[in-house]
Amino acid sequence: MATQLRAAIAGTGFIGAVHARSARLAGARLVGVAASSPKRSAAAAEELGAERAFESAEALVTADDVDVVHVCTPNHLHLPLAEAALQSGKHVICEKPLALDVAGARRLVQAAADSGLQAAVPFVYRYYPTLREARERVRAGETGALRLLHGTYLQDWLLSANDDNWRVEAELGGRSRAFADIGSHWCDLMEFTSQHRIARLFAQTTTAVAERRRNSGAATFDGANGQGEVRAVETEDIALVQFETDRGAIGSVVVSQVSPGRKNRLWIELDGAEEALVFDQENPEALWCGRREAATIIPRDPEWLSPPAARFANLPGGHPQGYASCFDAFVDDVYEAVRSGEQPDGMPDFADGLRAAEITDAVMTSAAEVRWVDVAGAEVAT
Ligand SMILES: NC(=O)c1ccc[n+]([C@@H]2O[C@H](COP(=O)([O-])OP(=O)(O)OC[C@H]3O[C@@H](n4cnc5c(N)ncnc54)[C@H](O)[C@@H]3O)[C@@H](O)[C@H]2O)c1
Repeated sequence: MATQLRAAIAGTGFIGAVHARSARLAGARLVGVAASSPKRSAAAAEELGAERAFESAEALVTADDVDVVHVCTPNHLHLPLAEAALQSGKHVICEKPLALDVAGARRLVQAAADSGLQAAVPFVYRYYPTLREARERVRAGETGALRLLHGTYLQDWLLSANDDNWRVEAELGGRSRAFADIGSHWCDLMEFTSQHRIARLFAQTTTAVAERRRNSGAATFDGANGQGEVRAVETEDIALVQFETDRGAIGSVVVSQVSPGRKNRLWIELDGAEEALVFDQENPEALWCGRREAATIIPRDPEWLSPPAARFANLPGGHPQGYASCFDAFVDDVYEAVRSGEQPDGMPDFADGLRAAEITDAVMTSAAEVRWVDVAGAEVAT
């Protein structure tokens, strides 16, 4: 492996560009990119300042001069590209969902274990310092036994029948849309912070916009163009999930991509016997800590945070950090793992991607069969 890591990015839309920036900041060379056609790859290489455009994503994941592959394509390509990358000896950062179903995600966990390479999934909200502070408070016992875990993940970018994206198509995005796309982030954060795992759940899903005008080439968050035929939609816009955890708490989450005015409202509350903690992704500079006698705001100031949280507070208090900083910290951690062979605390890997697939599968089964469903735990050889 070269001293300076050589990164390559397959898929250069919304999140591919975020990966490119973080890879550079983490000290890698961006040796190449691939988009959906050679022409688009050339344009993306120019735009992102990559050294070259690959002919295809398949050529990128097997290239000799690449150490780390970032898979940032639509969902249906994650499994074949990540698998091919691991088989040709590349470390992999693969976007969520890892695969379109549990079997595919399990195959990737096994492939990563067999390869001995680093295999990470960008559950990047874990990298907010205030979220880490909540996790530390829970770990230290300050919050007390957790009883109720609840929240929302709301967006509005698929609000109208003219809004469209490849995610709407089950063959490209998977049979779950809203839950797999954003509900999976909420569940990851909840389990990561609380150290509880969802044991069983009951879910209801709705396709609020039953027909959409086709424009699945539209960029993420830019869905409307008023062109294309109208077709029926099969994937859900809204999911409500009620759950019980393995450690005796109950909870719920509301997930929606059709909530007007909500852009990325990932909001989570952990209610314990001693205090409640609230993390709000759209106001991530402060953690709300409620106690019966008083409520406190804990600002993201490295002087005031515990060391595991302060590790990610790289600006002084009062100088806001945000989503991009989380991505930078995540990629930095993965590259550190690539160099040292040791995963830093809290780095999300393919096992976490499989966990998300299992929860998503339980949500879809529950909604279809109108019953409580146990969330499977996978056994994977390591
Ligand atoms: N972790 C996060 O916070 C986060 C945020 C956004 C998106 N995502 C995930 O990232 C992935 C991409 O989402 P997006 O919002 O960037 O989508 P997007 O539509 O903006 O970008 C997708 C890109 O993939 C390219 N592409 C399509 N087919 C290809 C092919 N055969 N080979 C190579 N490239 C191809 C397209 O040209 C486009 O550049 C999704 O899996 C999504 O779930 C994760």
